[in-house]
Amino acid sequence: MSDEQANNLQDPRLIREMLLGSGYSEKAVDLYLTRPNMGSLPDANQVSELTGHCGDTMKIFLKIEDNVIQDAKIQVLGCPGAVASAMATMDMIRGKTLEEAATLRDADVFKVLEDLPDQKQHCIRLSVKTLQKAIEDYSERQQPAAKEIA
Ligand code: FES
Repeated sequence: MSDEQANNLQDPRLIREMLLGSGYSEKAVDLYLTRPNMGSLPDANQVSELTGHCGDTMKIFLKIEDNVIQDAKIQVLGCPGAVASAMATMDMIRGKTLEEAATLRDADVFKVLEDLPDQKQHCIRLSVKTLQKAIEDYSERQQPAAKEIA
């Protein structure tokens, strides 16, 4: 790869152009480039990680109080579709109860993203599954006594 090609890959205008050209919506590209919910939460009380069939990995950080998701961040090792989906998912669960967040479906996230290339729609699945895993892990930890009895 030439220096010019390498520089082009870091130019947000060119990245935007490429992603729009391959079927991402403006909204999805904005989320990918600005990454508003990327990172960790030092005071998270639930951290869960999931790797998809494609090899991409997400690690979610939830701050849960009184059954409500007060804050949410996520680290994503993956494609633009994975990053955009994870950013949208975090926005959609903040302030929700665990039960409400557990009802989030791929179609809800797709609606927020507005569009993704067909071959990238499974990336939404990974962000929703990572969220579901975190909710399950947290709920399991809340009932250690019941588990021990069983
Ligand atoms: Fe794996 Fe997008 S290709 S989540």
